[in-house]
Amino acid sequence: MRADNRAPDPSELDPIEIASRDEISALQLERLRWTLGHAYANVAHYKTAFDQAGVHPDDLKDLADLAKFPFTIKTDLRDNYPFDMFAVPREQVVRIHASSGTTGNPTVVGYTQADLDMWSDLMARSIRAAGGRPGDIVHVAYGYGLFTGGLGAHYGAERLGCTVVPVSGGLSERQIKLITDFKPGIIMVTPSYMLALADEFEAQGLDPRQSSLRVGIFGAEPWTEAMRSEIEARIGLDAIDIFGLSEVMGPGVSCECIETKDGLHIWEDHFYPEVIDPESGAVKADGEVGELVFTSLTKEAFPIIRYRTRDLTSLLPGSARSMRRMAKVTGRSDDMMIIRGVNVFPTQIEEILLADERLSPHYILEVRREGPLDQLTVAVEMKPELAQASDDDKAACAGDVQGRIKGLIGVSAEVRIAAQNEIERSIGKAKRVNDLRDLG
Ligand code: DLL
Repeated sequence: MRADNRAPDPSELDPIEIASRDEISALQLERLRWTLGHAYANVAHYKTAFDQAGVHPDDLKDLADLAKFPFTIKTDLRDNYPFDMFAVPREQVVRIHASSGTTGNPTVVGYTQADLDMWSDLMARSIRAAGGRPGDIVHVAYGYGLFTGGLGAHYGAERLGCTVVPVSGGLSERQIKLITDFKPGIIMVTPSYMLALADEFEAQGLDPRQSSLRVGIFGAEPWTEAMRSEIEARIGLDAIDIFGLSEVMGPGVSCECIETKDGLHIWEDHFYPEVIDPESGAVKADGEVGELVFTSLTKEAFPIIRYRTRDLTSLLPGSARSMRRMAKVTGRSDDMMIIRGVNVFPTQIEEILLADERLSPHYILEVRREGPLDQLTVAVEMKPELAQASDDDKAACAGDVQGRIKGLIGVSAEVRIAAQNEIERSIGKAKRVNDLRDLG
């Protein structure tokens, strides 16, 4: 932790953050009963799904009984587009967000005023866990709009008592000017866009380590411990992981604490997590890796029961807070590539690339079909100071990385050293995989 950062004092926390496990479980059971009843009584989809599964909200006697209830998946939300998953009359919905899928209808979510208040409270709690405090200037470079990142961060920072600079994503030159002039202590942005901003600092002849930024609150996409080290060294701030998804609320479902940075505390007073086997749907024990599933406990407009996130992680016991943690997300099951029978996640490649001193964090993975086999190409830029490296040096570097990918992951990949700035920079969620398999 930087010397000028500090963890919140216990007196600054919400009492539930450090309550006993028994207190947390009792609150969850009470709230889960309410949620199941609310969803069953007010959302036709849940009534039908529960009836078909032969379960009733009254069947929930303890938390483990939740496993008897059916999962909700993304297509359920699409099938009820736009407003049929709402559990309150539309007039009581004061805000809509939506996430655009690649095909078909977007997923629409709604919030009552009480829902927005809860979200703001949990985002304020998250920013405080990350080392933010009232009076901080917070630069929000998550996108504003239907995406939950910008507005979620914005209302949370206001709720904590910060001065918010609502910049949204893009226009990197102007971002650097605003950071230089307004001197925010905190930035909230995707980790990939943070890297593009670090490049922009340097392009303007500025050292990002000399900026006012002391804490970065990064999420909306998977990122690795290696990426954390890279960002912390390059920008000289504490890099904190924040997680969330629109279907469950938006950012702030879970967040790391600055004093431990050991996984993301799930705000379990409002969300009940499970990790399941993605094939069988069986609930896994804490510590085992599987697909993360969430049930909201207090949401009014859009209660969500056993939502399958597709994110892969494991549940860990509490540490800096009593609430359980989730390990850094390895990736989404949708992002998993199967290269000659071996499962590969972009995060595994990222760890290997960033461990090499010669390489920059700008990369993209290309998957092609050659005959019956999938072929993986890793395109990565070298560090800007090595841009003039000889062809022999580049080939040696590519060969080393190829060997490490084969040794550590077990797949043969082609590694190509890309030209400087060839890899498209993200201004929001980074695109890590370019799937060229369907292109013939
Ligand atoms: O990305 C909400 C968010 C905004 C979270 C800003 C954090 C910061 P969606 O657009 O609905 O919502 O995308 C949700 O993004 O299921 C994960 O796959 C991924 N994701 C979000 N945060 C993380 C994270 C927002 N910290 C989807 N690590 C989720 C890994 C993340 N993946």
